[in-house]
Amino acid sequence: MIGIFDSGAGGLSVLKELVQLMPHEHYLYYADSANCPYGDKDREFIISRSLSISQMLVERGAGLIVVACNTATAAAISTLRAKWPDLPFVGMEPAVKPAALNTRTGVVGVLATAGTLKGGNYLDLREKYSHEVRVEEHIGRGFVELVERGELSGERAEAVVRDALEPLLSKGADTLVLGCTHYPFLKDVIAKVAAELSPDKPVKIINPAPAVAAQAKRLYREGDALEEACVEFASSADNLELLERLYALGR
Ligand code: DGL
Repeated sequence: MIGIFDSGAGGLSVLKELVQLMPHEHYLYYADSANCPYGDKDREFIISRSLSISQMLVERGAGLIVVACNTATAAAISTLRAKWPDLPFVGMEPAVKPAALNTRTGVVGVLATAGTLKGGNYLDLREKYSHEVRVEEHIGRGFVELVERGELSGERAEAVVRDALEPLLSKGADTLVLGCTHYPFLKDVIAKVAAELSPDKPVKIINPAPAVAAQAKRLYREGDALEEACVEFASSADNLELLERLYALGR
């Protein structure tokens, strides 16, 4: 069984990629929606939640755990790996490298939570690529809340997205990295607002989820193949219906 967790519904965007690549596995997805968002929370709190959730996934028989949350990866993945050294953990990382390869303006925009943007992994990545491209970053304020409400389009969503995109695009970014797993659920709104703000210059949006799923496939010792994927959902909040609906959207 593959365990996967996020602060809420965002990791479903990674689950979709996993199921596509490994369609005969058993998945248990845990959303910590009662504690969502993680973005501005203390590192200690996120570590403690990540340990409890992983413990539950281990007890349920997970043979690999995907930390489908950039913020939890930044705060907790080294602690998780130290606690379960024989269990593979796959985490998220803002896709600065493919963005640096793609940009024509030489400016990459990273959208993520405050926790991810101050994480050591991200700071190292930014440093590594800052000789080749300029990396501009912005917190996607309000994005996570929209997704947790299932509000994936409309004027309010567009206004929230515009506030975050404007500063990045006005600095010349032509490539946007979605550095939070909730954001792909808003990708239609992001694409629409980006086209409005940058009518002459196409903006490419990069989601690292397919690369993360490929890494999970490399590390997972596959179990007995099921006829089709079995996906179970669990949550710390009363939102299983929303999780199933968002998963069915296949973002
Ligand atoms: N989905 C998350 C991430 O990738 C967490 C967002 C949040 O809870 O603030 O960072």
